Amino acid sequence: MNIIIQITYLVASIFFIFGIKNLSSPKTARRGNLFASIGMLLAIAVTLLDQHVLTYEWIILGFVIGGSIGAIMAVKVQMTGMPEMVGLLNGFGGGASLLVALAEFYKLAPVIPINTGIPIILSLLIGSITLTGSFIAFGKLKGFITGRVVKYPMQHPLNALLLLAVVVAGIVVVIDPTQFELLLIITGVSLLLGVLLVLPIGGADMPVAISLLNSYSGIAAATTGFVLENNVLIIAGAIVGASGIILTLIMCRGMNRSLMNVVLGGWASAGIEGPATGGAAPKGDVKSVDAEELAMILDSVSTCIIIPGYGMAVAQAQHAVRELTNVMEKKGIKVRFAVHPVAGRMPGHMNVLLAEAQVPYDQLFSLEEINDDFPNTDIVIIIGANDVVNPAARHDKSSPIYGMPILNSDYAKTVVINKRSLNVGYAGIDNELFFYPNALMYFGDAKDAMVKLTNELKQM
Ligand code: TAP
Repeated sequence: MNIIIQITYLVASIFFIFGIKNLSSPKTARRGNLFASIGMLLAIAVTLLDQHVLTYEWIILGFVIGGSIGAIMAVKVQMTGMPEMVGLLNGFGGGASLLVALAEFYKLAPVIPINTGIPIILSLLIGSITLTGSFIAFGKLKGFITGRVVKYPMQHPLNALLLLAVVVAGIVVVIDPTQFELLLIITGVSLLLGVLLVLPIGGADMPVAISLLNSYSGIAAATTGFVLENNVLIIAGAIVGASGIILTLIMCRGMNRSLMNVVLGGWASAGIEGPATGGAAPKGDVKSVDAEELAMILDSVSTCIIIPGYGMAVAQAQHAVRELTNVMEKKGIKVRFAVHPVAGRMPGHMNVLLAEAQVPYDQLFSLEEINDDFPNTDIVIIIGANDVVNPAARHDKSSPIYGMPILNSDYAKTVVINKRSLNVGYAGIDNELFFYPNALMYFGDAKDAMVKLTNELKQM
């Protein structure tokens, strides 16, 4: 039986690896999800066949209650609410690792071998931080807790001291597994650490924090795998831990921020904190166009790049954008989409929306793939994007986004920016692009604006 279990775990792990590989591209993401689901189904089924399972009643009850809540949440969640939901799920993952570690300690004590004792303490520490940290992240995104950067006296020394205390107490418990009270203190302090570590991070930085907590939940699962001597849990946890940290670093690079800058609650002026102090305010007049004028311009171009941003997500304009591209293509215009790695508010935000609107994958291009093509492009239409096209990132050393890679939309012959006003985006800074001689503002809610433009173009 044990051989069958281990072989099935190996097969499940292979499915996980192919799953995560396929998830790295929008074209293969659905297949990746399917592979990972098959792997998880195999892992769960074979674990339930394991002779260690004492009673199935509680498992079925938990499955029905938890599965129903999860299914309802997944169906009801709005696309813009995904970061909160992912945050909550990470927290539950951490909480599960914490509970398993506590249960194993009580089951095995007072004789716990060191190779089980160490992972128990690590599961308690990382699982607890993930649990409370994720709940704080959820609260910040939902507005239950202040989204501001919270600084408190002796913040970093206090956290370092608490972490040191957990490590020292953990060593004592590993050496002497009769110290039940100390184990509970370790759990309590670790739960507190989760709160203290995530509370300082600004609400607008939460997607990065959530990605990091996702990585923690994977590491906690892997350490729990060592506690239970369960190979598939170790492998799956390691995959989640590694991919979470890679995603976090990609997001940080896309924003030109260091991980430490995010984690230690830097960039206090981001997002809901109000306008940033850095960066000279652009001056001059903007030129604006209405739908009819823009349709006339489009009628005479042959190449177009569309840059979607957070505003497209807010307006749910993706279907209207797709309809516009259909009409443009019928008129012989070559249309492509340029997707910035941190456009929107969560990884892959624009890809998901455009896929939902059935925009073909081969029309989507990453920053690296398309950035050199802007000078040869007749027109760029920016829909609800702001920071990811702000040229200040290239030259203004005082700007908070200085050094962030941007889409070179300003190099095109004409650049049209659709948004409701000249207001700032996430980074809270003005955008000099709006005042460029080749820039035209097309004001309005993205969905309304795209519908009007499409109708005008159809009449041409
Ligand atoms: P932003 O710079 O945030 O700008 C979005 C713009 O959309 C706003 O200036 C707003 O201007 C406009 N807008 C809002 N509602 C609209 C509507 N209904 N119709 C039309 N426009 C609307 O967006 P971006 O260019 O996508 O940049 C993303 C930012 O988020 C970056 O700074 C990035 O670092 C940050 N960030 C991203 C992530 C990930 S992983 N994607 C995670 C954390 C942070 P008006 O109010 O004038 O309409």
